[in-house]
Amino acid sequence: MPAINYLRLSLVDRCNFRCSYCMPGDGEIAYLQRSEILSYEELLFLIEQVFVPLGIDRFRLTGGEPLIRRGAVGFVRALCALPGVADVSMTTNGYLLEELAADLYTAGLRRINISLDSLDPEIFGQITGRSHWHKVWKGIQSAHQVGFDPLKLNVVVLPGINESEVPDLAALSVERNWHVRFIEFMPIGNTAYFEQSGWVNSETLRTRIRERFGLEAAACPGNGPADIFRIPGAKGTLGFISQMSECFCDRCNRLRLSADGYLRPCLLNESDQIDLKTSLRTGTSAAQLRDQVKYVLDRKPEINFRERDRGTTGRYGRTMSQIGG
Ligand code: GTP
Ligand code: 5AD
Ligand code: SF4
Repeated sequence: MPAINYLRLSLVDRCNFRCSYCMPGDGEIAYLQRSEILSYEELLFLIEQVFVPLGIDRFRLTGGEPLIRRGAVGFVRALCALPGVADVSMTTNGYLLEELAADLYTAGLRRINISLDSLDPEIFGQITGRSHWHKVWKGIQSAHQVGFDPLKLNVVVLPGINESEVPDLAALSVERNWHVRFIEFMPIGNTAYFEQSGWVNSETLRTRIRERFGLEAAACPGNGPADIFRIPGAKGTLGFISQMSECFCDRCNRLRLSADGYLRPCLLNESDQIDLKTSLRTGTSAAQLRDQVKYVLDRKPEINFRERDRGTTGRYGRTMSQIGG
């Protein structure tokens, strides 16, 4: 098992998009109240006093949409400045990057992953529930111009919707140092939609891309589960995140902290999560909090394999926006 050194940290469960694969429609989801969400001070305390001393020194900020939380840039600045923090990254839908990319870069963020499920504004609108393709595209350009590196683009592949665009999306990696990643749709969040739509195997996508451009093995900086390839001669890479067709539990290096302070050992595991927020707010000492996290860490290998045994056909209650992407 690899060392568990990576925490995916959700800043907020809300999102300004409604991606069909992630969330139900407007109004169908119950949001957390502000008081239920860990404050930035609480997060910084947990990171400095609990996670970093346990060797968890890589942090990815997720949501919902992390940039809609007020003060997100200031939090990035404080997090990047904390002693012992080795890596800070963010996963965003890109809507606010046109305004915020430069500030985030100045605050110290260097690695950013942006969702871009289509090059066609109409299909993008159909998938995300919002007609914001042009704004997101400008956000991606802003992130590129200020120098984010690596800049990754996430595509959830939906049969019959954006599947035919995969080679065109892959071509975005040729001219620029952009890393385009194709994610197999999984039955989490909008499971009704999953059952109706199905999913596309990464190997099928690689075959199509190979036929059009060629494909070779490559590497790309990151902490995630992607298998990396490159179109020969391209400046960027292609990543395939294949949680349906491949099991990467044995190389899983991460924990997840939801916006309301639940620490879970696995994306798919609710029963082994611990309520760090209540512990923190009832005066538990940093040493005791470390013991609670250590308990999860010690059991993570066993939990990984238990979750794998559950297979990929289960239904999971919370959406990705509630768990934290
Ligand atoms: P880097 O390699 O550091 O860029 O991180 P990453 O690829 O983990 O980050 P990102 O947030 O862009 O993850 C992309 C997608 O991969 C997520 O939205 C999930 O769909 C999937 N994913 C990430 N981590 C896990 C995991 O632990 N289990 C499963 N099943 N899927 C994951
Ligand atoms: N299957 C795969 N990926 C998903 N995401 C959200 N829901 C799903 C799902 N059902 C991912 C998207 C987005 C990130 C925030 O979460 O890739 O980039
Ligand atoms: Fe929002 Fe991301 Fe979920 Fe889309 S995938 S609805 S952008 S949290």
